[in-house]
Amino acid sequence: MNEKDIIPYRPGLEGVTAGVSAISDVIAAENRLIYRGYDIRELAKHCSFEEVAYLVLMGELPTRAQLEQFNRELLTNRELPAEVYNVLHALPKEGNLMAALQAGVATLGMMDHHADDHSHDANLKKAIRLTASMATLVANVYRILHYEDPVKPNPNLGHAANFLYMLFGREPEPLHAEVMNLTFILYTEHGYNASTFTARVIASTLADMYSAVVGAIGALRGSLHGGANEAAMEAMLDIGTPDRAEAWVMEKLAQKARIMGFGHREYKTGDIRAVILKDYVRQVAEQTGRMDIYQIQETMEQVMKREKNLFPNVDFPAAAVYYMMGIPIPLYTPIFAAARIVGWSAHIIEQHDNNRLIRPRSDYSGPRDLPFVPIDQRG
Ligand SMILES: CC(C)(COP(=O)(O)OP(=O)(O)OC[C@H]1O[C@@H](n2cnc3c(N)ncnc32)[C@H](O)[C@@H]1OP(=O)(O)O)[C@@H](O)C(=O)NCCC(=O)NCCS
Repeated sequence: MNEKDIIPYRPGLEGVTAGVSAISDVIAAENRLIYRGYDIRELAKHCSFEEVAYLVLMGELPTRAQLEQFNRELLTNRELPAEVYNVLHALPKEGNLMAALQAGVATLGMMDHHADDHSHDANLKKAIRLTASMATLVANVYRILHYEDPVKPNPNLGHAANFLYMLFGREPEPLHAEVMNLTFILYTEHGYNASTFTARVIASTLADMYSAVVGAIGALRGSLHGGANEAAMEAMLDIGTPDRAEAWVMEKLAQKARIMGFGHREYKTGDIRAVILKDYVRQVAEQTGRMDIYQIQETMEQVMKREKNLFPNVDFPAAAVYYMMGIPIPLYTPIFAAARIVGWSAHIIEQHDNNRLIRPRSDYSGPRDLPFVPIDQRG
């Protein structure tokens, strides 16, 4: 490589273009997010998660007949094989759910004889299987690791409602199903974020989709990425009551601590997904009698804007609605994974369809030309 071809290093690869993709676009300057050409606000208003999943995976909105066929395929792939349940039962109880999710996906991959077929059609089949089964995996991983029996999927319910059904063992209230559907849509896809980029790097070695998803789950776990929704809820619980919110934020900022659920690498004037979800935070707060949580969020948002000009990201309202709907906190990041599986899969397919190994360079910062010292002469 010529010296002139070398692009200077940027910490965190901020602002560096690392690929070309037709799946989604974050138009940060306009605070817009687009999936396959459609504005997230339109999709959030009109679509089921299944319809959005079809759009992101297939590249265009489905006709009614195409959506019905897609729904049938999702339905037939919802249940997990017995081998996956055996693995889940053998895992350490109350262990980390993201690690358990990785074990579940790795097992699904070991059972798929077409795992190493990277053709577009074979990958699409895997993507549908993973999209359908991830929700079952997340709900039942939680149940099994908490000494409860798994719940079979309910074929009469849509994807989001069925997820809540498996988690709680009863049909959800319509508002909760609606909110779960919405958060699944908002979490579906988001460009070259850390977990998606991880998935693409793994796929670029011509490893299979399951391996790439296992890696992506690992990347999502961190609190600077998917883990932020859990950390944001822990912060709200630590605050406790709305009157303590301002002092709490001020104290954390004085300590130079990060307030989870605020800020974003791309959006600097607000995350449209958080704006869309905020309305529902209020609705669920009113319905569940938890206006205190809504008020804590309001105060935190005002103080963060005033003090740092930082805005909530999607994890901030998502944490609040999940909590008020009674979802245990350790499930928030796994739920993010159950939605983002669609984006990850679409990116893995795009990578395999037009692959080049992703292999950047690094600037060496260590010493050179040290004299070698034989082992007996060291120390
Ligand atoms: C998401 C995130 C990693 C993006 O950060 P980034 O683009 O790398 O920006 P930086 O980390 O360089 O931060 C820039 C400045 O804003 C501050 N900042 C950014 N996010 C902050 C937060 N959540 N709380 C407090 N300060 C924050 C940084 O401390 C830094 O301030 P400084 O210049 O005085 O040192 C960052 O905003 C963050 O850590 N947020 C909390 C985690 C989170 O919610 N993640 C989910 C993202 S969807």
